[in-house]
Amino acid sequence: MNRVDGKIALISGAARGLGAQAAKVFTQNGGKVVITDLLEDQGHATVEEIKKAGGEAIFVRHDVTKEEDWQTAVKTGVDHFGGLDVLVNNAGIFFLKPTEEMTLDDWHRMISVNLDGVFLGTKTALPELKKSAAKAKVGSAIVNLSSIAGITGAYNGSAYCMSKGGVRLYTKACALEFAPHRIRVNSIHPGLIDTDMGRQVIDDISGGGAASNAVRDAMVSAHPLGRLGVPLDIANGIVFLASDDAAFMTGSELVVDGGNTAQ
Ligand SMILES: NC(=O)c1ccc[n+]([C@@H]2O[C@H](COP(=O)([O-])OP(=O)(O)OC[C@H]3O[C@@H](n4cnc5c(N)ncnc54)[C@H](O)[C@@H]3O)[C@@H](O)[C@H]2O)c1
Repeated sequence: MNRVDGKIALISGAARGLGAQAAKVFTQNGGKVVITDLLEDQGHATVEEIKKAGGEAIFVRHDVTKEEDWQTAVKTGVDHFGGLDVLVNNAGIFFLKPTEEMTLDDWHRMISVNLDGVFLGTKTALPELKKSAAKAKVGSAIVNLSSIAGITGAYNGSAYCMSKGGVRLYTKACALEFAPHRIRVNSIHPGLIDTDMGRQVIDDISGGGAASNAVRDAMVSAHPLGRLGVPLDIANGIVFLASDDAAFMTGSELVVDGGNTAQ
């Protein structure tokens, strides 16, 4: 069982997809969550779903690229729940583009969400995570969403791979920096998971339409366990890394990819 009982987590980009599923698993295991996202309707709907199941959650509208939004999100969570034990830097964007077609604006957009967002979240949450860690039995935790595309290259994926590779090593450097404060920092590396983004990956590769079924089949074959991932596969990993069960893990990368990168 995951030991997140009574812990308070802020999960960015959690209105839908992997973040929403992580919020559900976190609350099912006795934690409380601050769900943040640009998508207000879906964010509120996810909160309602959690509350109906007996969990505790609030939604804060939040653009992870904006420092003032981070300050508001962290303050709102701390004011509401009384502290912060866990930060999950989950919000992210994806696109494929050949280098010659990529504009500097495209490149900066990827950096601003997938890297600035992770840096700003870490910096803003750090004082609260330090306070919680000083009182907690095991400490506090940060979980960063990287990808298998942060380990191996992806065709036309230079911007995405750059961002997720950045998250991977940013995680390790932060793990060293924050270890004296008993704040663990780990990354998780999903394979292709069936979410809006996962479907966008298939559409971007196939160009959409009839070709998407063939690309989906090829993607399934690329995962030796013979299927795409589902959000619960990743949510279980996120909550494990956030929990006291992962007490001696920091600076590590949890690959959850059905064997994709084992080949
Ligand atoms: N789905 C996959 O196959 C896969 C694989 C590897 C890694 N990941 C990573 O996992 C994370 C979650 O992916 P997902 O599949 O749930 O994607 P998703 O697109 O379904 O959800 C991402 C969420 O992030 C939010 N978001 C985007 N930009 C934001 C911003 N500026 N501020 C606040 N919120 C913002 C979106 O509104 C959305 O709700 C991402 O970091 C992604 O890169 C996903």
